[in-house]
Amino acid sequence: MTNNITYFIANWKMYGNSRSLKALNNIIKLSSIKKFNKVRIIYCPPYTLLNQFAKKFIKTNIMVGAQNCHYKTGYGAYTGYVSAKMIKDTGSKYIILGHSEARAEGDSDNKINIKIKAALKSNLKVIFCIGESLKEKRKHKTNMVLRRQIFSGLKNIKNLENILFAYEPVWSIGTGIIPEVEILKIQIMKIKKILKQKFKYKKNKVLYGGSVSPKNIKSLSKIHEIDGFLIGGASQNEKKFIDIIKKTIN
Ligand code: PGA
Repeated sequence: MTNNITYFIANWKMYGNSRSLKALNNIIKLSSIKKFNKVRIIYCPPYTLLNQFAKKFIKTNIMVGAQNCHYKTGYGAYTGYVSAKMIKDTGSKYIILGHSEARAEGDSDNKINIKIKAALKSNLKVIFCIGESLKEKRKHKTNMVLRRQIFSGLKNIKNLENILFAYEPVWSIGTGIIPEVEILKIQIMKIKKILKQKFKYKKNKVLYGGSVSPKNIKSLSKIHEIDGFLIGGASQNEKKFIDIIKKTIN
């Protein structure tokens, strides 16, 4: 891991209810320990829990984020949708955009670009997900796909300061399969190189996501280039999530 801030982002997907709040006390305790002061924990529960989570974490350094938003910035006649401005109003500071599950539901590269702009305009920090599918990987199209996702997603965005990047190979999400450490390291380096050379953004943060668990975190955290993790399944279990953080930092 780097010596900088290490991000641990909990993507709760469509899980969780009002009772979930009870199982957050140990993570709050952990976040206050000095040893973990370079750890940035961000919980991304469903919309229904954003405000409750934000209130629960109010006196802590744990942040809250949403998992998507509508592409229109403010208010409007869009039944069933939530805008970045409304998310900001819940006390959330972050938002996940471009997740493969949202792409599968119709978020195109272009739509993601507009959503990123809407989120930035509402002063949310963006966790921008990119990643190739198994079919694309088998056809050796990984680099092409990642470049396309990055260039389209960041079109006409000048300031990348409020964007974190998450490399999530689709074939790794929820499958228990992670990339080989050496290959992952190279992939993260390639993404960083694009951001540095093509976007002149040296301070880029690139996280890894896909089946991160207490079992594989030791090998993943050996990759110096990774700035943190986007964690789905394992983050819904407080014990496992804490275990992942401890194993990374120790
Ligand atoms: P997973 O999900 O950790 O359950 O694979 C990661 C994600 O979808 O962000």
